[in-house]
Amino acid sequence: MVATASHPKYEVKDLALASVGKQRIEWAAREMPVIKQVRERFAQEKPLAGIRLVACCHVTTETANLAITLQAGGADALLIASNPLSTQDDVAACLVADYGIPVYAIKGEDNETYHRHVQIALDHKPNIIIDDGSDVVATLVKERQNQLSDIIGTTEETTTGIVRLEAMFKDGVLTFPAMNVNDAETKHFFDNRYGTGQSTLDGIIRATNVLLAGKTVVVAGYGWCGKGVAMRAKGMGANVIVTEINPVRAIEAAMDGFRVMPMIEAAPQGDLFVTVTGNKHVIRPEHFSVMKDGAMVCNSGHFDIEIDLKSLGATATGVKEVRNFTQEYKMPDGKSIIVLGEGRLVNLAAAEGHPSAVMDMSFANQALACEYLVKNKGKLEPGMHSIPTEVDREIATLKLKAMGIEIDTLTAEQEEYINSWTVGT
Ligand code: ADE
Repeated sequence: MVATASHPKYEVKDLALASVGKQRIEWAAREMPVIKQVRERFAQEKPLAGIRLVACCHVTTETANLAITLQAGGADALLIASNPLSTQDDVAACLVADYGIPVYAIKGEDNETYHRHVQIALDHKPNIIIDDGSDVVATLVKERQNQLSDIIGTTEETTTGIVRLEAMFKDGVLTFPAMNVNDAETKHFFDNRYGTGQSTLDGIIRATNVLLAGKTVVVAGYGWCGKGVAMRAKGMGANVIVTEINPVRAIEAAMDGFRVMPMIEAAPQGDLFVTVTGNKHVIRPEHFSVMKDGAMVCNSGHFDIEIDLKSLGATATGVKEVRNFTQEYKMPDGKSIIVLGEGRLVNLAAAEGHPSAVMDMSFANQALACEYLVKNKGKLEPGMHSIPTEVDREIATLKLKAMGIEIDTLTAEQEEYINSWTVGT
């Protein structure tokens, strides 16, 4: 870790938290057998030797296991938070104190600090950027054109970040390869669905301790994350309504057994609202004004733009913190609207994010995507690239093995049949 004249070697809350962080990182590692195998191979082969790497991720126990893996692979890695509220301060402390990884992340940091950390990350002159939401890449493209020649590529695992990268490519400003980690089946089938499903309810319950059974839960968005939240809320006994703008997903939600309707119809019925759309102002003044007294709203999409909190704040006569990560907005008609996690990712603000067992596969994809970028340096076209199918399959095979599950293999006869077109009716 080298301090430059302009900024310190790290910025974490308190290095004394490191021992607690270490214990928690090791606990998470027990559920991360795939990343462990990648780490052991990386330690032998050093595929990232000489690579300056910036990771802009939620600083959690799972991310720590990724960072340690990248370091084992030889990377000169620096970590910043991808959200002001998602940092686990003990984890940040441990990475600095025990692994010498420079971390710039403090839970509750303000927006100015967050953006300053993005600048510090770019001062590291990265060759590879692991981005969550694409803030580092967007800043690089807008403000650091002179560093583009250093870049081998980026990897991105959030749906929001992928949408942004695609927009950059369309505008002709994405001039290097971007690995679409979200697209890997071992990522979105599990992290987005089971990870967001469980961790979102975990955040809501830790923040409020409400009973979900019998409540009406409105889930805005039926992508992989929305599917997970709706499925798990239903499993807890909630009566789930889905809102969508995509007609195909709306049919899917209806056939999965959920009521589907516009938000303006759902607003007076819901006890709890969860946004997972990736778009802005999905819940706005016209919806707040018809909600029940005590309705709770929260977001599990990447950015805090899905709930129009600015308008809510402007209308409210007062705002009170009633529990950790739980704020009561008093409306002029005497009604209350409860906002969880300040409209930021409730699963990371009020809980610990997705469980380690799913992040194991997401982060194995991240580490292998970095290795792929280095191996193919100079050979990949600018723009979006999928994780190779063999890598996805390999991750699934390792995970199954770790779970003690065996599966069938094709017989020679089946192999021949499946590869031929000549046999029909
Ligand atoms: N995104 C969602 N959950 C996460 C976790 N546990 N660690 C890092 N990133 C995440």
